[in-house]
Amino acid sequence: MAQVKPKVAILATGGTIAGSANSELATTGYKAGVLGIDVLVKAVPELKNLADITGEQIANIDSSNMTNEIWLKLAKRCNELLSKVDGIVITHGTDTMEETAFFLSLVLKSDKPVVLVGAMRPATAMSADGPKNLYNAVALAANPSAKGKGVMVAMNDKILSARGVVKTHTLNLDAFSSPDFGDLGYIVDGKAFFYNNATKAHTKDTPFDISKITNLPKVDILYSYSNDGNAVAAKALFANGTKGIIVAGSGAGSIHEDQKNALKELMKQGLKVVVSSRVVSGRVAISDRDKELGFISAEDLNPQKARVLFMLALIKTNNTQEIQDYFLKY
Ligand code: SIN
Repeated sequence: MAQVKPKVAILATGGTIAGSANSELATTGYKAGVLGIDVLVKAVPELKNLADITGEQIANIDSSNMTNEIWLKLAKRCNELLSKVDGIVITHGTDTMEETAFFLSLVLKSDKPVVLVGAMRPATAMSADGPKNLYNAVALAANPSAKGKGVMVAMNDKILSARGVVKTHTLNLDAFSSPDFGDLGYIVDGKAFFYNNATKAHTKDTPFDISKITNLPKVDILYSYSNDGNAVAAKALFANGTKGIIVAGSGAGSIHEDQKNALKELMKQGLKVVVSSRVVSGRVAISDRDKELGFISAEDLNPQKARVLFMLALIKTNNTQEIQDYFLKY
């Protein structure tokens, strides 16, 4: 009797994995998001040994141009498909992959595996990493032991959780790690080996329902640095409709006093402020005095991930303590 293979849907959004350059030697200066999903799948005939594959093109962009609209379209399509398939693979640019992964981990309502995958070298490059990464991602999405692990990233033979994963190198093939918690595991010859679990609630255990949402509240990020001039930027962003600002503070969430004074004034007018850190790992520690003023701690989330949770929290509430509770929980 023929063996029934798992069903895996591949949703393509672009990135270097679908990138094309003029020369086999070019690993920079190429165009990301050029090749379609059919070309990516055709390049790895071994995929059909792992699963019954379907492919869909959701977008074809350089992920630095990712938008809330594409996130919502992608998430809604995943939620539709998850009742019909055993797992989903999303091909994606590596630059904002950690943000998309975290967004999906907060809004998808299933315990089936969803795996984001990309490449550091374009598809046309000598030793392109995309085909092997794609093979690993499909192997992971088709693997019953990945059930309940939430949204994951499969890059360079590693399995990383959506919440923990960070892009930590601009160009190396080994560009992703989980600085705070360690990776979930590894994929070796198409087999997944897990050593860790995601500890915070995710996917079906979150309260964020995007089924009827058509856009997300505007949240922006302000960077802190010596001789900070960002008070100007904070005021301009608020005047432009920004509902929430994430501060990428120095150290454990320190904010230059000029910027802090401007933020305090804007908070009196309704702006919500979440404090994260520009440091690559660790949690922020904001003072009781700053908490009383209304500053919210991003806990251990980096600024770009804190922005994702902040937007979803603002859909649910405008209450400072309730927003803080979301950051403690997710
Ligand atoms: C992108 O993020 O779309 C371009 C860079 C990459 O995929 O590595």
